[in-house]
Formats: sequence, structure tokens, C-alpha cells
Amino acid sequence: MQTRERTFLMIKPDGVQRGLIGNVISRMEKKGLQLLALKMMQVSRDLASRHYGEHEGKPFYNDLIEFIISAPVVAMIWEGEGAIEITRALVGATDPGKAAPGTMRGDLAVFTGKNIVHASDSPASAEREINLFFSNTEICLYRQAHESWIYQ
Ligand code: RTP
Ligand code: MG
Repeated sequence: MQTRERTFLMIKPDGVQRGLIGNVISRMEKKGLQLLALKMMQVSRDLASRHYGEHEGKPFYNDLIEFIISAPVVAMIWEGEGAIEITRALVGATDPGKAAPGTMRGDLAVFTGKNIVHASDSPASAEREINLFFSNTEICLYRQAHESWIYQ
């Protein structure tokens, strides 16, 4: 049995503008992951710089910040056994041109700077990003009735 964990998934402005919110959420639901929190929001410059702090100084940093604050995003928390790694696999490689068919980026995008979604890349990132975007009162604690049909 893998550890039950939470991950942060964000539909970026391109995904929202292109009408892909339902497509992204549907893939996560169908996989068997559980949605704990969701909000549509405009990311402030301050939140963007904290979220992408690890990329400060890189050539793509300024474009990344301007892009993420350019229009609303959909921020989510998903839970499940191995949820962080599973979600990264569903999202696919950073460059959509190299992302495998069947992944979100492989199916829905063509350009690295407009790659539809962000997903936490480690347990430490997931905890940091969840705390950055959500307060405890925004997280719904519940168990899905069909869980015994997903796990042993
Ligand atoms: P994300 O954080 O958005 O889930 O993406 P990731 O882990 O696959 O990629 P990361 O290295 O964390 O990069 C964050 C985002 O910056 C943009 N990027 N552009 N032009 C470039 O070389 C380049 N590299 C990264 C992408 O939008 C990437 O998702
Ligand atoms: Mg990343």
C-alpha cells in the first residue's frame, strides 16, 4: 500500500481560457483521485513570485510570472495513495511536444510556456503549495463511498 497523500494541481490561464477545466478535472476523477478543495482565482504578483520562487533568475522566470497572473486559474487539492507521483504522470512532461500521448500536456498543448497545468513535484512542494493557496477551512474532509472499489 502506498502512502495516502495530497497534491496541488492548478489549471493555468491557458487551460481556463481554452475551456479545458472540465477535461482536466475529469481525468483526475476517472483515475480515482479525490478532490478536497477547488477555487477559481486571480493569482497576485506576490503569490506568483512565492509559488515560483524556485525558478527566480531562470531565463523563463519573468514570462512565467506574467503568464500566471494574466487571467484566472483554477487551484485544487487532490488526495489519494501515491497522488503526487500519479498526478505528475497524468500531467506529462514539461514540454508538451515531448509529453506522451494520453497525458494532459501530450493531448492538450504544444508549447512549454503554455502547458495547461501545474502539479506539485514532491511531498515537500505539495505541502508548501497547498499551504500557499489554501487555508485549512477551505479543505473538505470526507471519504468517497466508492473508495473500496479503488483500493484494497
Ligand atoms: P509545473 O511546475 O508548471 O508543474 O511544470 P514542471 O514542474 O513540469 O516544470 P518546471 O521546471 O517546474 O517549470 C515551471 C514552468 O515554467 C515554464 N518553463 N518554461 N522555456 C522554458 O525552458 C521553460 N521551462 C519551464 C513551464 O510553463 C513550466 O511548466
Ligand atoms: Mg514544477
